[in-house]
Amino acid sequence: MKSSPVSRSGNFASGPAADVARFTESISFDWRLWKHDIEGSIAHATMLHAIGVLTQAELAAITAGLNEIAAEIAAGTFVWRAEHEDVHMNLEAALTARAPAGAKLHTSRSRNDQVALDVRLWLRDEITALLGEIADFQRALVALGERNADVLIPGYTHLQRAQPVYLAHHLLAYVEMLERDCERFWDCHSRVNVCPLGSGAIAGSTLPLQRELVARRLGFVNAAGEPQVTQNSMDAVSDRDFMVEFAAAAALLAVHISRLAEDLILWVSAEFNYLKIADAYTTGSSLMPQKKNPDIAELARGKTGRVTGNLMALLTLLKGLPMTYNRDLQEDKERLFDTADTVRATTRVMAAMLGQVTVNRAACARAASDPALLATDLADYLVQKGLPFRQAHHAVGAVVALAEKIGRPLNQLTPAELQSVDPAFGRDATAVFDLAAAMAKRNLVGAPGTREVARQLARWRERLSPPGKK
Ligand code: ARG
Repeated sequence: MKSSPVSRSGNFASGPAADVARFTESISFDWRLWKHDIEGSIAHATMLHAIGVLTQAELAAITAGLNEIAAEIAAGTFVWRAEHEDVHMNLEAALTARAPAGAKLHTSRSRNDQVALDVRLWLRDEITALLGEIADFQRALVALGERNADVLIPGYTHLQRAQPVYLAHHLLAYVEMLERDCERFWDCHSRVNVCPLGSGAIAGSTLPLQRELVARRLGFVNAAGEPQVTQNSMDAVSDRDFMVEFAAAAALLAVHISRLAEDLILWVSAEFNYLKIADAYTTGSSLMPQKKNPDIAELARGKTGRVTGNLMALLTLLKGLPMTYNRDLQEDKERLFDTADTVRATTRVMAAMLGQVTVNRAACARAASDPALLATDLADYLVQKGLPFRQAHHAVGAVVALAEKIGRPLNQLTPAELQSVDPAFGRDATAVFDLAAAMAKRNLVGAPGTREVARQLARWRERLSPPGKK
């Protein structure tokens, strides 16, 4: 009897078998919810006092007991007991042992709405923290771009050299992706930020609970300050949509990071040699003494598998689940925690690594000066001479073939050689291969032109400057 959790009191002749207890426990991972569980319990107790279920003295005893427990957990002296199964029953048992009024705390509350509340509170904090980490990551990308504002590299399609771009333009592409990630997380936050407490096990309560009071106390309010409470008790105890949304947004974030990781891995290879990562952020080989490996970027890329896997696990968990709460839902937490931990750690270490990257300007300049990158500019030149673009495209293609045949770079063909392909080429044609002039011309919004990239860097710098530092 002594080793049974409160959930078995009264109706059970024995405690659970040892292997059942081991199989069903969640305290080994849901202990992480303790702060939010306590916060929710204090709000619930405050409301129970407001409706006359708890006396002032009982509320005071419960609040003091929970605060005491919180201090012990924070100090590492609190003992979690596996026989109490999960975080909710561990805290309730510890409270009731200290304050008999603790036995009234679970009035009109089930672990079903309690755990829904806890994970919402927890995830709300996680999203807020993650948004801060992503902003730091964006700042690191902008700073790397600004430190190397004049560096040009080839832009690639099909991993083949395409057209020249500023390195900053390439980096700002990731800043844009990360900004959309932030928008998705923030949008998800609005659906996390709804209070399920008062839904009970499935069907609310016969007592006159004040759900809005609890919601307000816990900060479940919209932008206008109005309390947000769930509108269907059955939905509230079984809804994990908000977790799936978070996992999906996290999977996309991880995918974005993995693409940057891949770029960095390519760029530090001897074949590209565009970047060098400081020793503190590279690792060695146990066999080959010369190696400095970009393991951080590789792990960032590799961890994407876990994060997308977690999304699939959560969707699979929910598929075909009958209404309402089913114990299956206990399986959501490790996937949720792992997702949040993984994307936060990855975001943070990638941001730190970017601060330790130096650009090999000479190698970038060599690669960007490949005149073939400006073949399209040569076609645009012919268009300005009045040729239809298709004809210009064909002529420049023939010029490229000719250059290859005679073994000379594209920008070193003579006017006569160019005219042998198409008489529309003038003596000024090879002026298009002036890289600085070519970059000065690309000033459409969103293009990698000299002025436009500077404008975009300034825009992001301003937008990402922490409030107060503007
Ligand atoms: N540990 C459980 C979970 O994570 C708490 C809710 C248990 N509810 C129940 N009716 N057994 O889902």
